[in-house]
Amino acid sequence: MKRIGVLTSGGDAPGMNAAVRAVVRKAIYHDVEVYGVYGGYSGLMNGNIEKLELGSVGDIIHRGGTMLLSARCEEFKTKEGQLKGIEQLKLAGIEGLVVIGGDGSYRGAKALTELGFPCVGVPGTIDNDIPGTQYTIGFDTALNTVIEAVDKIRDTAQSHERAFVIEVMGRNAGDLALWSGLAGGAETILIPEDNYDMNDICQRLIKSQERGKKHSIIIVAEGVASGVEFGKQIKERTDFDTRVSILGHIQRGGSPTAFDRVLASRLGARAVELLLKGKGGRAVGMKNNQVIDNDIADILGEAHTVDMNLLTLSKELSI
Ligand code: F6P
Repeated sequence: MKRIGVLTSGGDAPGMNAAVRAVVRKAIYHDVEVYGVYGGYSGLMNGNIEKLELGSVGDIIHRGGTMLLSARCEEFKTKEGQLKGIEQLKLAGIEGLVVIGGDGSYRGAKALTELGFPCVGVPGTIDNDIPGTQYTIGFDTALNTVIEAVDKIRDTAQSHERAFVIEVMGRNAGDLALWSGLAGGAETILIPEDNYDMNDICQRLIKSQERGKKHSIIIVAEGVASGVEFGKQIKERTDFDTRVSILGHIQRGGSPTAFDRVLASRLGARAVELLLKGKGGRAVGMKNNQVIDNDIADILGEAHTVDMNLLTLSKELSI
């Protein structure tokens, strides 16, 4: 392979830039040209493709967002859209593509590979919901952003003796809520992978108040329910003066943590190695601190799981 492409797609995640840098530098190191596809699959269909040099990815390792821009693209879910994309890649003389993104992006990469164009997926999403890797690029940074917010909210919760419901992102996965709840010492963590009972939650809050606990932090994953709705119910059923904070897209921004930069560098580089060995249809990931790769179709067929031991532990520690 003498020329490869790279794109970022779906929700941006801190560390995507570090992954793009790794792809570009690793490929050039091996005398392979790299082309950046701007604007995800949508940009691909429109032929928004430019050559990247070593300097194109200078000064980006520490930046959030993605220099290649990102998009969610309905048209690319169709075979017609995918063929349009392949046509543009061929026009540019590109022989393989690194796709950095979440499961929607992986579906596009799988489709292109099945149509004869080799792609390798790199997991980039704050949701940490991609099977085949313990961590996705951006998760650690988002987690630290959430923790910073939780710590600040805890200050005001304590001062006003209030309960705070904090809604965090994660789509249908509870990782961000679970990890931030454990790291932030939340009294209650609600994730889509677990059942909950509103009565139990309120009873626990009431009991904790009786024991002298004056404030409480409740982390709700967006995949469970709206934080506003939760806040309303807690206000109605307990004596807690309750407030709701929806952290929103702040969780997607910011300079990537060292962990995410290292992860992105390792995964981006491995994706290039796979393409250069002629291996398309793979998805890279991290397991026990080793870079691994799996069949992208297998990854998409698997369900994401969270570590329920963490939830049990958080319940034990928040009594
Ligand atoms: O997948 C990343 C993510 O931030 C999810 O956590 C969230 O549900 C979604 O994207 C938000 O998407 P958008 O930026 O399109 O509103």
